[in-house]
Amino acid sequence: MTNLPLIHFHDFHPPLGDFRSTILAGLRSEQKQIAPKYFYDPQGSMLFDRICELPEYYLTRTEIALLNQYGDQIADSIGPDAVLFELGSGNSNKIRLLLDAIRPKCYVPMDISKNHLFQSVNLLAKDYPWLEVHAICVDYAGSWNLPPGLKGRNRIAFFPGSSIGNLTPEEAVGLLRRIAQFVSHGGGLLIGVDLIKDIGVLEAAYNDQQKVTAAFNKNLLLRLNRELGANFQVDRFQHRAFYNQGFDRIEMHLESEEEQVVRIANELIHFNAGETIHTENSHKYSIAGFHRLALRAGFHPVKVWTDPEDLFSIHYLQVQDER
Ligand SMILES: C[S@@+](CC[C@H](N)C(=O)[O-])C[C@H]1O[C@@H](n2cnc3c(N)ncnc32)[C@H](O)[C@@H]1O
Repeated sequence: MTNLPLIHFHDFHPPLGDFRSTILAGLRSEQKQIAPKYFYDPQGSMLFDRICELPEYYLTRTEIALLNQYGDQIADSIGPDAVLFELGSGNSNKIRLLLDAIRPKCYVPMDISKNHLFQSVNLLAKDYPWLEVHAICVDYAGSWNLPPGLKGRNRIAFFPGSSIGNLTPEEAVGLLRRIAQFVSHGGGLLIGVDLIKDIGVLEAAYNDQQKVTAAFNKNLLLRLNRELGANFQVDRFQHRAFYNQGFDRIEMHLESEEEQVVRIANELIHFNAGETIHTENSHKYSIAGFHRLALRAGFHPVKVWTDPEDLFSIHYLQVQDER
């Protein structure tokens, strides 16, 4: 008899109406903006997976090397029988490096990109037939809760890829606080955080030679054409990514090459030449700076792993005792 994988799918994808109103509000504001969670439709998720393979994008390969090298120490910190949540699980490749060592009670990947989540989880479940999986399509920035039947202690969250850097430090404290409440007393968070480093290395990572990051950024406009009936002419926008030293962050923008008007959901949006849509921040931290953030959110730093070049860090944090 073959073991059938134990997968449960929970679909809390935000409705299209929310997408439309949020996009329009962002495009009406003085500095036009679209939140990076909207990058991830099926094409965006596929392009992100290609970014992870790029020579300039040191983040993924450095984090993977750390997970490979320190997997046993990480598993010791987490302990067995965890209910293991992953925020923004994407292709679920990184968790594969830990599953055999951690042997969690169940794995709960959470991602906003529905098709990509479901495909990745199906592949994962075939390779780990012993693992109970609850895949949740949800916006983790909104309110979320446990699906019924997942109550348990030893809750551990995994938040790799330095996605925490997409939030401002204040927003990051807010999300970390919510994670701390969620995993609650005795729970922990394993989180990947990109480090402040040479500006040339940082800017190259978001301006790759093959222009995959540019395609990822511009896919946002194509998505608005596909899903909201907009009429962006994508070749009239340029990908821009640069380090903003005042905020310790890479900023990504889409810059209008000329004055133009775009129709989106029956509204006309005017662009001046050189005006941008701000599409992503990727904040970078020092170890001490990230620890300060974690402490404000109610986490106690337990351990940190870094590579020899100090490119990237993985932190294990536990919820502080309430005293
Ligand atoms: C930078 S990628 C990281 C993917 C993977 N965790 C890794 O480390 O390679 C961000 C992932 O988080 C998902 N994501 C981004 N914002 C999200 C949100 N607000 N709620 C749920 N998922 C989100 C995206 O769909 C994508 O899979």
